[in-house]
Amino acid sequence: MASATKGMEGIVAAQTAISYIDGMNGRLFYRGLDINELAERSNFEETTALLWYGKLPTQKQTESFRRKMSENRLVPNEIIALLLLLPKQATPMGVLRTAVSALASFDPATGDNSLEANVNKSIRLTAALPTIVAAWERIRKGLWPVTPSTHLDHAANFLYMLTGKEPDPVAARVLDQCFILHADHGLNASTFAARITASTLSNLHSSITSAIGTLKGPLHGGANEQVMRMLLEIGDVDRVDQFMRGAFAAKKKVMGFGHRVYKADDPRALWLQRLAAQLAELSGNQRWYQISERIRTLVQAEKPLPVNVDFYSASVYYTLDIPIDLFTPIFAISRVAGWTAHVYEQYSDNRLIRPESEYIGPLDVPYTDLNSRV
Ligand SMILES: CC(C)(COP(=O)(O)OP(=O)(O)OC[C@H]1O[C@@H](n2cnc3c(N)ncnc32)[C@H](O)[C@@H]1OP(=O)(O)O)[C@@H](O)C(=O)NCCC(=O)NCCS
Repeated sequence: MASATKGMEGIVAAQTAISYIDGMNGRLFYRGLDINELAERSNFEETTALLWYGKLPTQKQTESFRRKMSENRLVPNEIIALLLLLPKQATPMGVLRTAVSALASFDPATGDNSLEANVNKSIRLTAALPTIVAAWERIRKGLWPVTPSTHLDHAANFLYMLTGKEPDPVAARVLDQCFILHADHGLNASTFAARITASTLSNLHSSITSAIGTLKGPLHGGANEQVMRMLLEIGDVDRVDQFMRGAFAAKKKVMGFGHRVYKADDPRALWLQRLAAQLAELSGNQRWYQISERIRTLVQAEKPLPVNVDFYSASVYYTLDIPIDLFTPIFAISRVAGWTAHVYEQYSDNRLIRPESEYIGPLDVPYTDLNSRV
């Protein structure tokens, strides 16, 4: 019997033409385009179209795509009613997972697995995720959700729905770049979960629900929230050395470092570092950036661990005044572009994903009568 590879490290479980990680050199490509160029020059809507259709859209396609995305931002009233029923202390990721699962029952094409239906469902889902997250943020504060704007772009509209105020253009562009940087990433755990669900020929909403549940964990998308909690606990750059000495002595994992695929620093983290520095400068508050820099110096002097996407995104979102427990939902708002692209790819050449396990338990155990068990 073959032996198990813990964590499936090094196992190639799918072919994909969506994104490529060059882990040795710290490079990431979406459909062959370098992530750095996309973060510099593209926007989330265009990047989503690139991931779904395989190439950059023409001007006409871009306009039509943007229009469709903005026209689909409203969610059914029943979804808002469902959010109103949930306990206020529910986690935003849990709420998002529940709402996306419920949306399946309202989508006119739920059971249609054709590519055309799936693209339309993906537009509706991608457009709806920010509305759900922002609506939950308002509802739990006892406020009424803000009706989505039709003229703002995806990132700016999300900030608008959180506060009801048109966002600062720099903040909106920074968030847009964050969305681009998080949109896809090879066969990460949540994408694999989406593909496994799709491989049973279950529908798109089920695949995305599986993915959201998987992204939530602190070893995956949940790490960005943990990073911010660590920065807050440290509180001041003068306390970093002492804090990290304690973390190293206790052999604690430092969130925002380490990666299964990257051996060099994650290129998305380096972009986010620049954005964190820019926001620190603009806001006049260097504290979180300086603490982050000192942590990175100490961690990387201790162990050759790459800095990952979740490290600097924490201080970026915090400086944008986004509540900490919305950091991972923001990851989901962006990654849904990649998840849905992977679901189409899985359907297009499907075979049930069904690995084996290495059995390590006993065999031929005798059945004991209830009254003789101890
Ligand atoms: C991302 C992650 C889950 C990858 O896990 P993995 O490929 O299974 O790697 P492992 O957890 O087996 O770690 C390998 C070694 O590096 C160490 N390591 C990995 N990440 C570490 C971290 N963040 N802090 C300290 N040590 C770390 C492990 O302790 C282990 O050391 P050992 O061999 O001496 O026991 C892991 O690096 C991690 O938990 N990072 C923190 C969470 C995080 O930032 N997640 C977001 C990922 S984008």
